[in-house]
Amino acid sequence: MLARRLSLTDFRNYAGLELDLEPGVTLLVGSNGQGKTNLVEALGFLTTLGSHRVSSDQPLIRYGRPAAIIRAQLASGERTVLAEVEINREGSNRAQINRSPIKMRDLPRSFASVLFAPEDLSLIRGEPAGRRLFLDHLLGLRNPRMLAVLADYDRVLRQRNSLLKTARTSRTASSQLGTLDIWDARLIEFGAQIITARAELVQEILPFVARAYGTVAGAEHEVRLTAALSIYATKEETGTIVADSAAGGIADDFATAIRTNRRAELERGVTLIGPHRDDLVVTLNNLPARGYASHGESWSLALALKLASAELLRVNSPLGDPVLILDDVFAELDNSRRGRLSTAIAGFEQVLITAAVIGDVPENLRGRVIRIRNGEIVGDDE
Ligand SMILES: Nc1ncnc2c1ncn2[C@@H]1O[C@H](COP(=O)(O)OP(=O)(O)O)[C@@H](O)[C@H]1O
Ligand SMILES: [Mg+2]
Repeated sequence: MLARRLSLTDFRNYAGLELDLEPGVTLLVGSNGQGKTNLVEALGFLTTLGSHRVSSDQPLIRYGRPAAIIRAQLASGERTVLAEVEINREGSNRAQINRSPIKMRDLPRSFASVLFAPEDLSLIRGEPAGRRLFLDHLLGLRNPRMLAVLADYDRVLRQRNSLLKTARTSRTASSQLGTLDIWDARLIEFGAQIITARAELVQEILPFVARAYGTVAGAEHEVRLTAALSIYATKEETGTIVADSAAGGIADDFATAIRTNRRAELERGVTLIGPHRDDLVVTLNNLPARGYASHGESWSLALALKLASAELLRVNSPLGDPVLILDDVFAELDNSRRGRLSTAIAGFEQVLITAAVIGDVPENLRGRVIRIRNGEIVGDDE
């Protein structure tokens, strides 16, 4: 798929940007702090509904302004749509497709992109939340029906948590336990779908990750991905395994774990098990990457996960090739890695690359060069 035109109003350091984008590789160059990452961050927002750099939306709005607008003409095969997002300083964000309001969460149905940036190191080194998001974004892009399941699970989880919290503090706790059973059933229904879908995704993506790691690292290494499921471990110090996956499927095991954890959940007033507490364990040569892998290995693994997700979407998603965005990647690589990476990405329908130094980017990727200075396009050499 393609982003054909990008317009920004009051997004980061862009007061107003109008940029036509083309298929193939586009290189965005400029010195540090000029707005290269800001520009690709805006495109990425349309897929992930957030920034890859900050967890709050406030910094995305131009300083002193009330709202930022990202508008993009997107094409997938014959279908072209105009996607618009308004990020508001006060009040909630709003999205439109072809000028009709849609739910924010449905935006990724129209735009698939995979963005890799140095911050992705946290995919390997950071907390489980980042890895869950990685998987869930991919689930939504591959199968848009999952966007609704993920939203349903979130809603049930919030409601169940608030019930647990009230039950903890109120004297009439027992009268609320009946209601809790109803929320349990829904938590399990949606949660089991997420656990299962993530597990299938991990199986599917693994060969792509292994191959991509070979591309980036330039050598064969054994990469493994394993789901660490909270339904199979209590949160007590012992970390005892409380159920066996072989028994009766994920939903049954989830239900068993919910029963086992009831007391602890009532005491803590929060849902202790479920896909919102799961992790994806990445191992490199039989050691967990988190905590063991070197900086270079972690970086290559993170890039491999992103490249693999792009490859997977390319063969198996409704929108086809995602727009591939590589922010500040080439400066980190030696020449042979640069060469291998450029071969791996050259076939994507649209690739956006940012670099401070054009010489860091292999020549075969220097098709169209856009120069950026202080939130403006100052040059465009075809
Ligand atoms: N909300 C904002 N309002 C105005 N300027 C911003 C905002 N957020 C970031 N900036 C400016 O954007 C610049 C960073 O742009 P960035 O795209 O990260 O640079 P680079 O070209 O190095 O990738 C900084 O100068 C920063 O001050
Ligand atoms: Mg940058």
